[in-house]
Amino acid sequence: MHATVVGSIHLDWVLRVPALPAPGDTVLASSRTTSPGGKGANQAVTLRRLGAQVEMVGVVGDDDAGRELLANFDALGVGRGHVRVAAGEPSGIAVVAVDASGDNGILVAPGASGTLSPADVAGAAAAVDGAAVVLLQLEVPLETVSATVAAARAAGVPVVLNAAPARPLPDELVAALDVLVVNEGEALTLAGADAGPERSVAAAAEALLARGARAVVVTLGGDGALVLDASGRTVVPAHRVEVVDTTGAGDTFVAALAVGVGEGRDLRDSARLAAAAAALAVQRPGAQSAPTLAEAQTFLSGADGR
Ligand code: RIB
Repeated sequence: MHATVVGSIHLDWVLRVPALPAPGDTVLASSRTTSPGGKGANQAVTLRRLGAQVEMVGVVGDDDAGRELLANFDALGVGRGHVRVAAGEPSGIAVVAVDASGDNGILVAPGASGTLSPADVAGAAAAVDGAAVVLLQLEVPLETVSATVAAARAAGVPVVLNAAPARPLPDELVAALDVLVVNEGEALTLAGADAGPERSVAAAAEALLARGARAVVVTLGGDGALVLDASGRTVVPAHRVEVVDTTGAGDTFVAALAVGVGEGRDLRDSARLAAAAAALAVQRPGAQSAPTLAEAQTFLSGADGR
């Protein structure tokens, strides 16, 4: 299965902290590491681990971080023939604070990732048109996301958009999606007033479905994921595991779901595999901690002895 990811590539600066800072706080970190990240790159790496052939479309800077990020793709077998190296732009970075319970707060300076343009996507037309699924997020310019979605639709390629971080989306973009994946906060942000006076996630998800996406999936953290489409509404439960680091867990979930979309599988079955993959990812540090397909299937079947 061939998948193409259009999105961000960052170097993550990961700080382990006792608690995430509140406004005005200064918090001392107990450790500092760097590792490859960016929602686009994390999702590309997850797709690869789950067995897909993956093309990444993105931009890095002409700097040490950019070279490290390209080498990471090479080491993991992610195609990067459509990753542009931007002269004069720093590679994107994210400062990722991870607290004692594994929860995180993230600041992103997109740098080169913020220059990913519709022209870059046009240059990768063969990768988009020839994919079984195209996967995007919102850490790159919206005009680039819109151009990609339009190109994929025109070629009849299914599109999965992970609307993270959330920002208002044009109706025609939402209506062109096969699957829209958001967390609870993102669902409420995207739905705006349509979430109702009680700011209900279920109402927000219904409103997003009514805007024309073929399916909406809302990740609910430890409560699982809400799957909505024309056939109804289903909650896929999460797995209770020991959490080390939640960074990139959403990316693992989204990419695993996209594998199912690319392979034409049932969306709810795909969400169950995605929940298993995310449960394995949160037990490991880093944003690119997704399991292999065999690991996820074994976990899902319970054959790992839990
Ligand atoms: O979803 C996690 C990712 O968000 C991190 O890797 C960071 O780079 C930000 O893009």
